[in-house]
Amino acid sequence: MSRRPLVAGNWKMFKTRGESLAFADGLRRGLGSSGSVEIAICPPFTAIDVVASALAGSGVGVFGQNAHADENGAHTGEISMAMLVDAGATGVLLGHSERRADDNETDQALARKVPAALAAGLTPVLCVGESEFERDAGTTKAVLDRQVLEGLSAVPVADLSKVVVAYEPIWAIGTGKSATPAIAQEAHGWIREQLRELCGDTAEQIRILYGGSVKPENAAELLSQPDIDGALVGGASLDPDSLLAIAAAAAS
Ligand code: 13P
Repeated sequence: MSRRPLVAGNWKMFKTRGESLAFADGLRRGLGSSGSVEIAICPPFTAIDVVASALAGSGVGVFGQNAHADENGAHTGEISMAMLVDAGATGVLLGHSERRADDNETDQALARKVPAALAAGLTPVLCVGESEFERDAGTTKAVLDRQVLEGLSAVPVADLSKVVVAYEPIWAIGTGKSATPAIAQEAHGWIREQLRELCGDTAEQIRILYGGSVKPENAAELLSQPDIDGALVGGASLDPDSLLAIAAAAAS
């Protein structure tokens, strides 16, 4: 089963609208014609419309970094899936470890957010990953099983192929210390096994991205692993040439 690789750049809380536009112009200039790799940018909410307009027709996706599960309501500071679509987004990151840690994002909340994203026509990227403490305690597999199975618990089996899972070990995020290809592949293999339990052969269609200190220098080796279907890139996605180099590694 060949899965089209996805390389997504998570900008986190970086870039004004002007800086986002400069990035989008640079990305457009460097984009090749090959569509073998899907590229997506996850700007802050304020820049989604700017980036979506600047990249219209390029095939590059624009994803939100979070959204609320409800259609609307008294949720100060939140935005809905439909609002993301309205701004030009085509997907959304859900359950990033920084949101799980800083904003108390729970597996229960994510179980509502993933189907809400699908209902709005967005590609949900469910982020999972263990802390250093959990890895040292030998509970990595249990943590991943819980996050994957609870996060996807309300998604109809027929829709699971539209979901993307991102494995981001917390100890590798922003540390410069990427997981080794073998460690990452082992975790991706476990996640694929859980997905098989959920939906049988459909699991072969679900893309599992690796995230955590991905750079142009280590991307090719990580992305050559059989169950690594792309990358969720933080720091190295802030420069268009660096993101394009990672996408090129995913294509090769
Ligand atoms: P870094 O690539 O900066 O380690 O961040 C990874 C990440 O959190 C992407 O969502």
